[in-house]
Amino acid sequence: MRSFADSDGDGVGDIGGLRSRLPYLADLGVDAVWITPWYPSPMADGGYDVADYCEIDPRFGTLADADVLLAEAHALGIRVITDLVANHTSEQHPWFVAALAAGPGSPERARYFFRDGRAGGDEPPNDWISAFGGRAWTRVREPDGSPGQWYLHQFAPQQPDLDWDHPGVREDFDAILRFWFDRGIDGIRVDAAPAMAKAPGLPDAGHGPGAAFESRTWVGNPHWDVDGVHDILRRWRRIGDSYPGDRVFVTEAVVNGPERLSRYVRPDEMHTTFNFDYLTAPWDAGALRRVIDGTLAALAPVGAPATWVLSSHDETRHVTRFGRASTGAAFGGAALPASTTDPVLGLRRARAAALLTLALPGGAYVYQGEELGLPEVEDLPEDALQDPTWERSGHTVRGRDGCRVPLPWDGDRPPFGFTDAGVAPWLPQPAGWAASTVAAQLGDPGSTLALYRTALSLRRSLPRLADAPLTWLDGGPDVLAFDRGTALRCVVNLSAEPVDVTGHGSVLLASGPVPGRLPPDTAAWFRVDGG
Ligand code: GLC
Repeated sequence: MRSFADSDGDGVGDIGGLRSRLPYLADLGVDAVWITPWYPSPMADGGYDVADYCEIDPRFGTLADADVLLAEAHALGIRVITDLVANHTSEQHPWFVAALAAGPGSPERARYFFRDGRAGGDEPPNDWISAFGGRAWTRVREPDGSPGQWYLHQFAPQQPDLDWDHPGVREDFDAILRFWFDRGIDGIRVDAAPAMAKAPGLPDAGHGPGAAFESRTWVGNPHWDVDGVHDILRRWRRIGDSYPGDRVFVTEAVVNGPERLSRYVRPDEMHTTFNFDYLTAPWDAGALRRVIDGTLAALAPVGAPATWVLSSHDETRHVTRFGRASTGAAFGGAALPASTTDPVLGLRRARAAALLTLALPGGAYVYQGEELGLPEVEDLPEDALQDPTWERSGHTVRGRDGCRVPLPWDGDRPPFGFTDAGVAPWLPQPAGWAASTVAAQLGDPGSTLALYRTALSLRRSLPRLADAPLTWLDGGPDVLAFDRGTALRCVVNLSAEPVDVTGHGSVLLASGPVPGRLPPDTAAWFRVDGG
């Protein structure tokens, strides 16, 4: 929301900006938009610190604006998914303000995890750690000014975790879900789903000093992917199912492997889930094929469709990752050191990855700006950085701002149509983005925007594609080649040499020139002979 388009000249994206660009999204060919949190928020974590779940932050607009947005999006055939941040509130949410004021042992504190410290109160109650670095506990001053209890926050200290065993928390969120479904929201993205349940008694996790928040490696962790989370998800699914139309849920669940992930999409739980194994996979044929096969194999038994995603608001943009020596990613953009990138190579691979992604069976998420081939902005001035990771890491990890730089729409200098001329966007844009603007790319049939538009249009229009199974072909070493039934053949060359693609049929779309053989880091879609 903050980085898409600004309508009121304050340098921050808003609902009006999104409304004005709905025709762009319709032309791009998306089925739905997922809007990151738009609720009133002190913005300690980009809006993922919510102070009121049933309002819109005035920076973004009003509830009336949201209603108009929904109506206009629906008129264009675009569904709207909102973000639900239920593991934690903002420290400024009235529940937390009341909990602080009410003191130890109060019913208000029972909505959160307030505990006495160890070692006479001076040490945190256990060894749990925060996703943004450091420990997951902060000590409060009690109303009488004395050093007091500690509260749990698996993210920033401004994001206290709610206790989902508290019946009032469950009931209040039932009402919040209904509030948005009643307004016509089509779906909900469940933020940080695995964080919501905790092991009884809050036992130590066994994290050593300096342990990193690497939830994809954790087994039996007491504060992440605890089985109780599924009770909450089932409860929400029942609410969604009580509404007319297809209300959908998608979870964000960074967990240990496809089998744990598949639990989030059992038939009575969520419909889909983001696929972080795919997002973080390196540009390597074997690794990608393992993730694709692993995903499909894990989801088939629970009957859930796969999803595929290359970038997000939490991750280094893949144009930049794919141009580095080490092309994989660590979730949150935190753990892998940045290194020099080859932007030309990165973009070539990103375009090929787009055709791979959009050819796979299931849903695909496009992170705003990836359709423009935008790179990570790696040289944001330090005083512009807003991600809590920057402070929490003692200024050693820059965090996620580099993928959140406002989009360039038109013109030859910042703010590139994102906001009014002369206004500074909330994060500075690179001066050199003129060739990346939507306006510049719309006139260029070879642009990345044109590639995405054509690919998304073919995805819709190719007969029998939606339900077609994936069948691997032998394309040679470091080549991914597969059919989607008789609808489409996709060949991606991840090797260092051009590969022969004669016999694959006629090229429908390619990520780069195909002068006879398919060049390295290039993908092509073919019409399957007889299809
Ligand atoms: C999710 C969001 C991320 C946020 C975190 C805490 O991971 O995608 O942006 O910082 O949850 O709410």
